Amino acid sequence: MIRLAILASGVGSNMQAIVDAYKFGILKGLAEVVLVISNNTNAFVLERAKKENIKSVCIERKNFKDEESFNKEILVELQAANTDLVCLAGYMRMIDKEILKVYNGRILNIHPALLPKFGGKGMYGHFVHEAVVKAGGKKSGATVHFANEEYDSGKIILRQEVEVSKSDTPEDVARKVLEAEHKIYPQAIKKVIEENLRG
Ligand code: GRF
Repeated sequence: MIRLAILASGVGSNMQAIVDAYKFGILKGLAEVVLVISNNTNAFVLERAKKENIKSVCIERKNFKDEESFNKEILVELQAANTDLVCLAGYMRMIDKEILKVYNGRILNIHPALLPKFGGKGMYGHFVHEAVVKAGGKKSGATVHFANEEYDSGKIILRQEVEVSKSDTPEDVARKVLEAEHKIYPQAIKKVIEENLRG
């Protein structure tokens, strides 16, 4: 069983999709979430973890004197849980260099657009969907990629397209994309386990 850790700052619907995938779906017998880390005490993802009986910790930046000690604490928790693969799921901070080094090629992120379009610093949440609608494109989608030291630029693992119609609002696009995210994240995890972690 591959041991997954999830880092999330918000609602955690992707975390739930991953949990559901090993309870009932394509990750059954392959992986399990052993740890949820949030940097936000009020994040609903922490409630979800409790409900699923998954260990969760809240590591808030304000409780640490600098970035280094904050990130060190995250690394300590990841290692204490014997994490094999880290999944960023709506984690609103840049992942630290040291963590990237330790988990080289084993940190995934999900982005609510078809990368390399509509990615980069400042392109998150509703900003992405607003930009997509403004650009008048006919499609958007979700991308799972490896995390690296820049925003949204690591190697792409999987993408799924959704159609955008002329009358769609950014909220409509967000809803369609989130649905695609919930499908694609477990699929991408499966792909990485089969291709990269099992040799
Ligand atoms: C998703 O849209 C994801 O692509 C982005 O943050 C959002 C997280 O949603 N990085 P949730 O917390 O998983 O519901």
